[in-house]
Amino acid sequence: MSAAPTPTVLVTGALGQIGTELVSALRELYGSDSVIASDIREIEGHPVINNGPFLTADVLDKNSLKVIIEDNNVNIIYHLAAILSATGEKNPVLCERVNVGGLANVLELAREYELRVFSPSSIAVFGPDCPNHAPQITPLNPTTTYGKTKVTGEIMAKYYWEVHGVDVRGIRYPGLISWKAPAGGGTTDYAVDIFHHAIMSGKYSCFVGPDTRLPMMYMDDAIRATLEMMDTPVESISDSRGGYNISGCSFTVTELVAEISKVIDPFECTYSPDIRQEYADSWPDSVDDTEASNDWGWKAEFGLEQLVNEMLTNLTRTREVEE
Ligand SMILES: NC(=O)c1ccc[n+]([C@@H]2O[C@H](COP(=O)([O-])OP(=O)(O)OC[C@H]3O[C@@H](n4cnc5c(N)ncnc54)[C@H](O)[C@@H]3O)[C@@H](O)[C@H]2O)c1
Repeated sequence: MSAAPTPTVLVTGALGQIGTELVSALRELYGSDSVIASDIREIEGHPVINNGPFLTADVLDKNSLKVIIEDNNVNIIYHLAAILSATGEKNPVLCERVNVGGLANVLELAREYELRVFSPSSIAVFGPDCPNHAPQITPLNPTTTYGKTKVTGEIMAKYYWEVHGVDVRGIRYPGLISWKAPAGGGTTDYAVDIFHHAIMSGKYSCFVGPDTRLPMMYMDDAIRATLEMMDTPVESISDSRGGYNISGCSFTVTELVAEISKVIDPFECTYSPDIRQEYADSWPDSVDDTEASNDWGWKAEFGLEQLVNEMLTNLTRTREVEE
């Protein structure tokens, strides 16, 4: 029996927090030349640009995506281009255009060229009426424009599967914590920024209060979840295909500060909540990922202590190399 041919993959929004790590994981899996990274911007010296094919493309320009798909015989799109919650609430019109309009372009092209699609959702789909431990199936009434675009994205994913047979899948990512790339303008950015400030100055002023608890995840877990879900046979993927809940670990800022203080002493965190507190308060504390666990065997590996140690070790090492 001959092995399945290596697919050609296109990643949109590839220079962001997730793309920086997902592109390298995909290139390891399929070979560098088979993974075309793209973004609306270019960042000189970025590893995604240095280590394989890279093209600039605006996801709102359907024709430029079409040319890339045709020229390279693309089979799968990992569609990461988006405007995140904090940036999105400052510019809701752009957020809606990019998050909904960009996805509409990708899904139409997927239908036309018979592509598979990964389209991330978010815990921002939940609203204040959701239980604190968010079930997979629950009313989705987000208060933010960003959250509304993610609910729309899930509905579009389900529609394209049911009506057009496009195999599009998504995950409701929790706040993602990583050290290789900066966080991209989301409400959970404090859980990344805090590590940089702890190492640089031993101090951090947090834009949400000490008792704020949100679902979070270390990036290694998020990348593994993405690859595992995309690798799951289609028969095992349920109606939750537009946005599977996945749980990593859930902690308050106070708990995070206490864990960082075990390594960085003294470390002082002060609090000056801004509008992002409201967004955080509208989201659940944790999520129930039973369905992801049953359908494709999802299980997180990183808890708070391990995540903090990984972040501090890697950021300290990176700073030493740069100095
Ligand atoms: N990082 C998180 O904590 C998190 C949590 C939940 C969901 N998500 C989702 O995961 C996906 C990727 O998130 P991320 O954290 O990597 O975001 P990011 O902001 O770090 O990266 C997004 C990338 O998209 C690019 N982009 C923006 N507009 C574009 C356009 N019109 N055309 C092409 N590229 C464009 C940006 O230049 C950027 O590099 C998004 O759908 C986001 O909503 C992320």
